[in-house]
Amino acid sequence: MSLQIDYEKELDALDLAAQPPQEEPKRQYYYLKKCRMLVAKMSEELGRPLTASTVTFGCQMNARDSEKLAGMLEKIGYQMVEGEEADFVIYNTCTVRENANLRVYGRLGVLHNQKKKNPHMLIALCGCMMQEPDVVEKLKKSYRFVDLIFGTHNIYKFAELLSARLESNDMIIDIWKDTDQIVEDLPVERKYSFKSGVNIMFGCNNFCSYCIVPYVRGRERSREPKDIIREIERLVEDGVVEVMLLGQNVNSYGKNLEQPMTFAQLLQEAEKIEGLKRIRFMTSHPKDLSDELIEVMAKSEKICHHMHLPLQSGSSRILKIMNRRYTKEQYLELTEKLRRAIPDISLTTDIIVGFPGETEEDFEETLDVVRKVRYDSAFTFIYSKRTGTPAAAMEDQVPEEVIKPRFDRLLKEVQKISKEMSSRMTGQTVPVLVEEINDHDSSLVTGRLDNNLLVHFKGDASLIGKIVDVHLDECKGFYYMGTMR
Ligand code: 5AD
Ligand code: SF4
Repeated sequence: MSLQIDYEKELDALDLAAQPPQEEPKRQYYYLKKCRMLVAKMSEELGRPLTASTVTFGCQMNARDSEKLAGMLEKIGYQMVEGEEADFVIYNTCTVRENANLRVYGRLGVLHNQKKKNPHMLIALCGCMMQEPDVVEKLKKSYRFVDLIFGTHNIYKFAELLSARLESNDMIIDIWKDTDQIVEDLPVERKYSFKSGVNIMFGCNNFCSYCIVPYVRGRERSREPKDIIREIERLVEDGVVEVMLLGQNVNSYGKNLEQPMTFAQLLQEAEKIEGLKRIRFMTSHPKDLSDELIEVMAKSEKICHHMHLPLQSGSSRILKIMNRRYTKEQYLELTEKLRRAIPDISLTTDIIVGFPGETEEDFEETLDVVRKVRYDSAFTFIYSKRTGTPAAAMEDQVPEEVIKPRFDRLLKEVQKISKEMSSRMTGQTVPVLVEEINDHDSSLVTGRLDNNLLVHFKGDASLIGKIVDVHLDECKGFYYMGTMR
């Protein structure tokens, strides 16, 4: 028997003349049906189908949320398109650094001009940036042309909010501060047929002193393991071979469940799913990374040998002010332990340069960790002051002219090491998940190694979604050229 939900049957069973059901997700099925009717009417008047597009900023969490929005938009009857030329454009925003916010305001100006030419156009904003009260105030005052604003806690209510907008001409705003609700079983439209993100938890309780995430994504909530496993089983039945388990801090998964469970135990459950070939996860916090997890990873046939382990700073003094709850030495010990247990593991990281009070000596400590750990790749960020976080109020903010040269020095070091590390598998034959036809040369396909690097090799579209053995002929800096075996 199929595990998939028959949404058409669910929608058929609902009577729009009756009151909307109170329980979820039935209530949202009702509004999906209602929006479908309203959109069909608009489309008939216009004599063409209506198009919609989601534009995603930020992290994998947001990318997954956009797939949920796309799933609902499709059920409503929109034709999904890429880019911003659409009848309905949704910006799913990020606010982790200030320049992400500035980009959204800039692009809203462009959308406004488009809307003047297409009076049927709708614009929605959602995601992390909308959880900031100042942002919503600014939008209310100066961006009246936006139709719909919602946040990170209520995206499951998208159809209900859209229906409210379609039946009135008001700007609809619905932002929740936090929630303990997790609504399952809504339609999702995946970007890739063969791989998918799976949320295992929402929110974050860590309060690193620079970070706005706990304020915009709320307190930590884990999904029930049975719901996660059921979702993965459905995905596998639908052709998925690789999942990425998503959470702000996956290592503390399950602590608040009625029947507590560790992340390592969840991984072992996922491992048992027949047909699932690869398991990835993101993001790990060093302070919660357990020996149990390392052991499970080392033994596993399916968990990829890749760990994204944000360092943020190599200075124990700065780490303390960042509220990271580990020292330089503890971090180094942890990476050594990982390499001992899983010798071919690929380590990647996030590093912030210019945190308040960072001295040249502190920065040297960061460089020292980079040289000792030898990351496969590292995302480097210039510290961005986020209003409301403890670090924003710290007095000794580092001037830009001090940060910029440090940032350049770090980047140079990171890239040099990353290039050396990337080439270490040259000559090996390894399993590769084929993802797409190569952008530049259609006789080639692009596949992903277990350690997240890409390899290009001769092949055709029939290979997409398959795992094949590829000989890594030559490393070209950050990717390989290979030959299928
Ligand atoms: N400034 C710069 N970088 C930040 N990050 C989080 N908050 C900030 C900030 N205020 C970085 C961290 C995190 C990544 C997702 O973004 O390195 O791991
Ligand atoms: Fe992701 Fe954080 Fe950005 Fe939100 S603020 S999109 S959780 S990186």
